Amino acid sequence: MANPPKSGNFDKKPPMNVEEYDTFIRLFCGAYEEMFKLTHCYLRAILPRQAKILVVGAGTGMEILEFAPLNPGWSFIGVDPSADMLAFARKKFSEKNLAGEIELKKGYVDDLKEEEVFDAATCILVMHFLRDDGSKLELLERISKHMKPGAPFILIDGFGEPASKDFEEISVAWKNYPIISGVPGETVEQIFKEVIMKTVQFVPESRIMELLETAGFIRVSKYFSGFLYGSWIGYKK
Ligand SMILES: C[S@@+](CC[C@H](N)C(=O)[O-])C[C@H]1O[C@@H](n2cnc3c(N)ncnc32)[C@H](O)[C@@H]1O
Repeated sequence: MANPPKSGNFDKKPPMNVEEYDTFIRLFCGAYEEMFKLTHCYLRAILPRQAKILVVGAGTGMEILEFAPLNPGWSFIGVDPSADMLAFARKKFSEKNLAGEIELKKGYVDDLKEEEVFDAATCILVMHFLRDDGSKLELLERISKHMKPGAPFILIDGFGEPASKDFEEISVAWKNYPIISGVPGETVEQIFKEVIMKTVQFVPESRIMELLETAGFIRVSKYFSGFLYGSWIGYKK
């Protein structure tokens, strides 16, 4: 595949209004904020005080807003094809007076300098927009190429088999998450049908493990799961 895997384009075809992303994601992705806190705990346990972190799909800046304030020696490069999402991230960084080395680049992992390597990388709620037609693997391989041996990699992504009974049962529980926060049931049904089920390319967890292994990640383990999202940590071979 000659071109970077491009999907989930939040500028051309946003699954929701970019201005509403921060509210939407907290309603529709169970334990969204906790997921970042747990990830932060893992990275702090592994990384030294000085570390350079690649944030793939930096979006509206959640990873950097969570990690940067308590880890002044960590520097960040965030890549994301969406200028609109990155504009929101920049606005939030400036409101919070985030200091330190933070660079946001509009583009893909491919747009990084070839020799640029990182002590850690994250890919949170991004890969599931790509089809399993070589695009998911290609994204992981491209990230892996920019990581130092032994560097930790965080993947948070949708997983499951849409035709299975498990998927159906978990979806019912998942839909209750926005419902108990006050979103009308019909709206939730419509968002699941028109947004989530049309944009998220679910694959079984076993396939996620296979993709990670093929892309060169070892000692992969799942540290969190909320409905049909999982959080995995692995290490570049
Ligand atoms: C659901 S948002 C997640 C943002 C952030 N990681 C978070 O968890 O809040 C997905 C982001 O991935 C970006 N994206 C889509 N395809 C991408 C790709 N191939 N490489 C990097 N980012 C991509 C989108 O533009 C969007 O900002």
